[in-house]
Amino acid sequence: MSRVLITGAGRGLGLAFVRSCLERGDTVWAGVRQPQKAPQLTELQAKYPQQLHLIPLDVTDAASIDSAWQQLQAEAGALDLLINNAGINSMSADAGGSAAHLRLGELDSNRMLAMFHINAVAPLMLAQRCIDLLAAGENPRIINISSWLGSLTNKTSGGNYSYCASKTALNMLMRALAFEVISKGIITVIFNPGWMQTDMGGPRAKLTPEESAQSILKVTEKLTPSDAGRFLNWDGTEHPW
Ligand SMILES: NC(=O)c1ccc[n+]([C@@H]2O[C@H](COP(=O)([O-])OP(=O)(O)OC[C@H]3O[C@@H](n4cnc5c(N)ncnc54)[C@H](OP(=O)(O)O)[C@@H]3O)[C@@H](O)[C@H]2O)c1
Repeated sequence: MSRVLITGAGRGLGLAFVRSCLERGDTVWAGVRQPQKAPQLTELQAKYPQQLHLIPLDVTDAASIDSAWQQLQAEAGALDLLINNAGINSMSADAGGSAAHLRLGELDSNRMLAMFHINAVAPLMLAQRCIDLLAAGENPRIINISSWLGSLTNKTSGGNYSYCASKTALNMLMRALAFEVISKGIITVIFNPGWMQTDMGGPRAKLTPEESAQSILKVTEKLTPSDAGRFLNWDGTEHPW
């Protein structure tokens, strides 16, 4: 029974993490930008009134991170698991919802930086803010949802600059964090969740988000300090950098 904070918890993989954690008895703080626009979380709250707490959280907003920390400090006092799940790809509404800016010749630095902020910098900022809560937790873990598209080894075609590079950056930032916070007993790893049937992955994807979330949680339970800084697939196999 862990105390868990999940970002981007209103839909997709984040929502699947919320369900899976609740089903195994965890207490969940579901970080969501606009709780009033997350009806599935509201339904879950009615079913799990003691276990599920909604927490307004825009991961790119320092004030939002700070007020989330204050709510966690007051309601939980410690965290056992931080799941950095929130992210966007180049087709997400937050990235403009069109592929135009993906093409060489039309790349836009502000859009690229916004993608880097959400996908790479924000998870580190949130982890930084929550370190004291995690250090006070039991078997604390930070898991970061990356992508196979962040792998340098796997990059054999051009394009998709922002998303791929933002996930590569996330991998490096979290590997660096992993080696630093292991001294506090916090195990940090990076996961490729696989291709999932979410708004981002589309209906033709191979995995349901529930399959990915459940598998990642099982792998996470078995992590040991020697796993800190690894890049893993959802099923626990090694992912090439
Ligand atoms: N789907 C796949 O096949 C796939 C493959 C590889 C990796 N991934 C990674 O898996 C993670 C989850 O993806 P998904 O498929 O579940 O995507 P999704 O269905 O598009 O959901 C994205 C989630 O991120 C949240 N989010 C975006 N910007 C945010 C911000 N600034 N602050 C807080 N939350 C924010 C969204 O919140 P709102 O509801 O408020 O927009 C939403 O809950 C992402 O990191 C993604 O890169 C997905």
